[in-house]
Amino acid sequence: MPIPEEFIQELKLRSDIADVISGYVNLKKAGRNLVGLCPFHNEKTPSFSVSPENGFFHCFGCGAGGDVITFIKRIENLDYIDAVKFLAQKAGMSVPEDNKNDGLTRFRNRIYEANREAARFFHKMLYTNEGSKALEYLRGRQLSEKTIIHFGLGYSPKSRYELVNYLKSKGFTNNELIQANLANKSGRGYLFDRFSDRVMFPIMDLRGNVIAFGGRIMSDMKPKYLNTSDTPAFNKSRNLFALQFAKNKANGQLILVEGYMDVIALHQAGFENAVATLGTALTQEQATVIKRYCDEVVICYDADDAGQKATSRAISILRPTGLHIKILTVPSGKDPDEFIKSYGEQGPARFRMLLEKSGNDADFRLRKLREKYNTDITEQRVEFLTEAAKLISSFDNSIEQDIYISRLAGELEVEKNAIKQQVMRYRKKNSREYIKREQREIQNNLSARNDRINTEKAYNLRAANAEEALIALLMYNPDAAQSVFKRLLPEKFITSFNRKVYETIKKRADAGFDFSITDISGEFSNDEMSRITKLLASHPRETDPVSAANDYIAVLEDEAEKLTPEQIAYADTQMLMARLKKLKEKKK
Ligand code: CTP
Ligand code: MN
Repeated sequence: MPIPEEFIQELKLRSDIADVISGYVNLKKAGRNLVGLCPFHNEKTPSFSVSPENGFFHCFGCGAGGDVITFIKRIENLDYIDAVKFLAQKAGMSVPEDNKNDGLTRFRNRIYEANREAARFFHKMLYTNEGSKALEYLRGRQLSEKTIIHFGLGYSPKSRYELVNYLKSKGFTNNELIQANLANKSGRGYLFDRFSDRVMFPIMDLRGNVIAFGGRIMSDMKPKYLNTSDTPAFNKSRNLFALQFAKNKANGQLILVEGYMDVIALHQAGFENAVATLGTALTQEQATVIKRYCDEVVICYDADDAGQKATSRAISILRPTGLHIKILTVPSGKDPDEFIKSYGEQGPARFRMLLEKSGNDADFRLRKLREKYNTDITEQRVEFLTEAAKLISSFDNSIEQDIYISRLAGELEVEKNAIKQQVMRYRKKNSREYIKREQREIQNNLSARNDRINTEKAYNLRAANAEEALIALLMYNPDAAQSVFKRLLPEKFITSFNRKVYETIKKRADAGFDFSITDISGEFSNDEMSRITKLLASHPRETDPVSAANDYIAVLEDEAEKLTPEQIAYADTQMLMARLKKLKEKKK
């Protein structure tokens, strides 16, 4: 581990896991732990728990778990060193230098540099002869000089070799250009530019690194946009276009639109809190990011069918995060860019009006539902009311429920109480179903996880259980540990994953270091950390650790003596007879 041990210790002391996680998850106290909705999977009832006392988090739903550094690794998508830096910055500590060059980080930095050079190259191309049509195109779409520069827009030349040549002359290797997805390899093995004859939109992360590009064709040819695929420096489901600008202008609210051009047009019109996904539907991870920068999202997708479907989907992803959601529908089938443009100078003011009268998502969903029925016909009215009651029952807030119940009762001239009872009925049913579904999910997930990390456990259940109980015991009772380390060699562990854990903590103990969950996260992957945390979470502290340790060691010794089928096949008869005798005695 390249970062000095003392530094990590100090960092952990200063980074309270509950404080750190509260920045991302709304945590409530539950006994000695804190619980909330898991940020790593979509859920409606909280199964994510944080134990400040033990310094770990654990989700009983998806199995994610680990210490404060693992949490930051996962949620910020960082490697170990960067997660340490991230926490250090929060804690006001500076990481001792010379550690910044861990392999993956170094490689990522090369990709950022290649992308940055590429962005400069594309931008300069706009002002050449060849790029002039792209500049004309952007001007034709009424982007100002200032906007073009602000977003660093550019042009990728047609030739398919200019960018590769340019970046190679700057010292980038073939591998770097391919990994950055700036170049592809031809059948004959030479590189060519991935983007050709397109208007280029650089995509940046929050630290201002250029992480990817979107390239728009200037004709009706397909595909309209070509985007950077995922690379070691880019994950399209975690980033949002223009968030690096929008986060500073959010003031509690972000506007979510579909297209790059919509974002740019809105920013130019003064709505600098607009962001867009990167050519995909909104993801859970993006919702978590959004939640970090605002408490209200205005979804402003296209008015066409696809846009409306995407709106419903986005609502269902954003709602569980607790964000307040509004829906802005742009009239007459336009997208926000076209709408603003169509009103010329009036554009921004017109859009402001739409923004101000945008309704919340409950309105949107009820309206959508109502469009499906002709409520003048009794039968259809009943059907609509039944569906509406179901929908209303899914709103978490009972005041909100009451408002919609009253409104429906008034509009359709039915008894408020009748609707209310229906809603209550669905509410009960919902909560039962959620619980069942989550229980199932938890069970499936836990066993799947077991198999993946400790694949040998299923075949060595007794031994593996004792190993795990012992590991938990050691971590909870470092005082009782020394005698165990002396008596039990790692070779006695039967499953190799548990052996690795034992070896790791034993090695640390031998070197005089601490070995709690928060001390070992540098040595394990996120998934392995989840596995270890789960093991801790499912073993309560022992009241008598010394005698418990003896029991576990006895089990392990017993299991280690057992012969495997291969050993039985190859052992000589005499030895087998002796073993048999010993076993018979034990049975008595
Ligand atoms: N998109 C994509 N690949 C495509 C089409 C669309 O990645 N082949 C993504 C882009 O991020 C695009 C967004 O989906 O910005 C919305 O698509 P669309 O509404 O078609 O594009 P606009 O951004 O409105 O672009 P324009 O106004 O130039 O047509
Ligand atoms: Mn458009």
